[in-house]
Parts: sequence; structure tokens; C-alpha cells
Amino acid sequence: MIIGVPKEIKNNENRVALTPAGTQELVKNGHTVFVQSMAGAGSGFSDEQYTLAGAQIINNAAEVFAKAEMIIKVKEPIEQEYKLIRKDQLIFTYFHFASYEPLTNAMVESGATCLAYETVERSDRSLPLLIPMSEVAGRMSIQEGAKYLEKPLKGRGILLGGVPGVKPAKVLVLGGGVVGTNAAKIAAGMGADVTIMDINLDRLRYLDDVMPKNVHTMISNDYNVRELVKDHDLIIGGVLIPGAKAPKLITRDMLKTMRPGTVLVDVAVDQGGCIETCKPTTHEDPTFIIDDVVHYCVANMPGAVPYTSTLALTNATLPYAVRLANKGWKKACSESAELRNGLNVVNGDIVYKAVADAFNLPYTDVKKYL
Ligand SMILES: NC(=O)c1ccc[n+]([C@@H]2O[C@H](COP(=O)([O-])OP(=O)(O)OC[C@H]3O[C@@H](n4cnc5c(N)ncnc54)[C@H](O)[C@@H]3O)[C@@H](O)[C@H]2O)c1
Repeated sequence: MIIGVPKEIKNNENRVALTPAGTQELVKNGHTVFVQSMAGAGSGFSDEQYTLAGAQIINNAAEVFAKAEMIIKVKEPIEQEYKLIRKDQLIFTYFHFASYEPLTNAMVESGATCLAYETVERSDRSLPLLIPMSEVAGRMSIQEGAKYLEKPLKGRGILLGGVPGVKPAKVLVLGGGVVGTNAAKIAAGMGADVTIMDINLDRLRYLDDVMPKNVHTMISNDYNVRELVKDHDLIIGGVLIPGAKAPKLITRDMLKTMRPGTVLVDVAVDQGGCIETCKPTTHEDPTFIIDDVVHYCVANMPGAVPYTSTLALTNATLPYAVRLANKGWKKACSESAELRNGLNVVNGDIVYKAVADAFNLPYTDVKKYL
């Protein structure tokens, strides 16, 4: 198969979808790999490293898209890429369709096959291609939150871990999944007083077992959220309903009840956000303030630590990419429910229910194509 790796062009996105090691693996399996010049530069990989691994370097994105049967990317295509995607091409990347209708419409019109990293799902409901980025974003949410709690950055001016004789900051983590667990772990390690909320009692039981003593658990409901936001310094949004828009757990009216300088980090912003007042921001301008509450809502947090993120992401995506390249998407998806769950759009049809429902668009059973 001919595989294309374009350079990511989303604001401050420095990750790349394939490393030289991954290139070597695909070439070893008999495939041709075209990498756009400088695609790996932001993650520390030179064109020469890709060439040595067996890739052919191409100067512009249009040519990469034109040549490739399968495009491997990191972020969803943005407007200037829509027109480069063609019918019957396989696009393997993060899409997060439910949060952006124009992207959904563009991919429906393109006729391409869109296999979304974020909905590849195992039988135990875990999301193997979301996990590594959630691990990065969860850990990073505390690093960023701690920074924006500093007074010059408009925060409350509180040190996460406190000092002897002074209480630590209070951190509230909404969602005890991968983002939430990694956030809680780092916050706890820094000495904060941490509470994790989830609707899944079994998950809370597990977290209660494995987390250190400064992490508490609480069931998530509107009453409890309203109470806790009043005295927490840093609030992390990490809830997810797979493939669907995130539920709004923090509503506009709650901001007035928070203390000035409270920091909200809505990691779930890529699924529409679980904080009503959050709108996607970029690494160039990551925060905004409403009612004296600092909002950090960067939709591609791992993009700021590309070295870690690229390696973490490609460790997880490569085995799937090799399978798709070796068998073609139809055979690979027929044989594997895990990969089949990743199919969101095929030949102009939306084959992922939650995406169709998000925009009241028609849904087609994927069986039509397999
Ligand atoms: N901004 C970024 O750069 C970035 C990076 C990685 C992941 N994410 C996003 O972070 C979000 C969380 O990802 P994850 O991997 O942790 O998901 P996950 O499935 O591991 O965890 C989500 C948790 O939310 C819980 N939940 C659902 N509804 C809830 C509610 N009403 N109250 C409390 N908890 C609730 C679930 O029970 C689950 O435990 C996703 O939207 C993901 O796309 C964003």
C-alpha cells in the first residue's frame, strides 16, 4: 500500500503520525511510505532519518495526499486539507467528529473512508488510541493548572503543594478515566488535596484502592459538583461519553460561586467540553477569563510536548497502521471489531451512531460495507 504522512498544520501542532522506526516497520512489510519534508522536525526527527528508514520525502502536502492510498495523521484535517482528500482514500487520524459539524460534512462529501483513532474500541470498552494522549494530557493538565494558579498569570496565587504550616491547594478532577487518573496522580504527587468525581462507582472503588491518601473520591452529580466548585482552586474536566459530546457538568451560573482566580482546565474540550463556558483555545493563546475564573481549553494539549507525545502515540497506532496496510481497511475491519469501531464515515455515509446523532444526520450500518 502507498502510505502518506503529511506535516501537521494545526496551530502549534508539532507531533507527527509516524516515526522513522514506524516507517521502517511499514517498509519492511512491503509498503511505500511518502513523508512530507520536515513532517517530523517538531518531534526531533529529520528528513534524513526517514530516508534512512526507507521513506521517500516529498516537498508539499498536496503531493502526499495525491499519491497516498492511506493517509496517517495526528489531528483532524483542517479546512485547507479538506479539498486534498479524495474518494476511496483511507484517512487514519483523530477526527472528533461530534464536536465539529463542518468537518463531518466535508468528510461525508469527500467520499473518503475515515477511521478515527478516538473510537477504535476494545471489547472491554477501552480506547487504545486515546489512552496515550489522555495520559499525556492528564499529566500535563496539572502542570498547566499549577502554572495558571500563579498570580501573574491571573490565578489565585496558591502553590499546589502548600508548604509546612500552609494548606495545599484543592484540586477537583471531573471524570476518573485515563485523563482524570493521570491528573490525580500528578496532583497528589505534588502534595495537593485531590478529589476525583465519576458516575461509575466501580471506577471510584478502584481509584480509592490504588490512589494515595491525599486523593478522595466522590460520586458525580449536579448537587455534588455545585458544592465542590465553591472551594476548589484547580478544576480538571476529563469526562467522556465515547464518540458523543461531553456533558456540561459546570454551567455558567456556577462560575459566580467560585473563588476569583480559580483555574479550570477543560481537557474534554475536544469533545465539546464539560464546562459550559469553555471554547477551544490554542497553545499561542491558551487561556481566557470569565467572572475572574481562568479557563484553559487547549484542544491539542499533547502538541506542546511533541517528543513525548509522538512516541506515545505511535507506540499505540503503529500496529493498527501495519494491519490496515497489510490487509486493506475492509479485510482488517471485517476481522477486527476493535478496528471496525473506528470507522466513522465511509463513502459519504456516517457509520458511527453517536456522530450521526450529534448533528441529526442519517446513520448507516457499517455492515453495508463489510
Ligand atoms: N485536550 C486535549 O488535548 C486532550 C487530550 C487527550 C484526551 N482528551 C479528552 O479528554 C477526555 C477524557 O478522556 P479519557 O481518556 O480520560 O476518557 P475515559 O473514558 O478514560 O474517562 C472518562 C471518564 O468520564 C466519566 N464520566 C462520564 N460521564 C461523567 C459525569 N457526568 N461525571 C463524571 N464523570 C463522568 C466516565 O465514567 C469515565 O470514567 C476526552 O474527551 C478526550 O478526548 C483531550
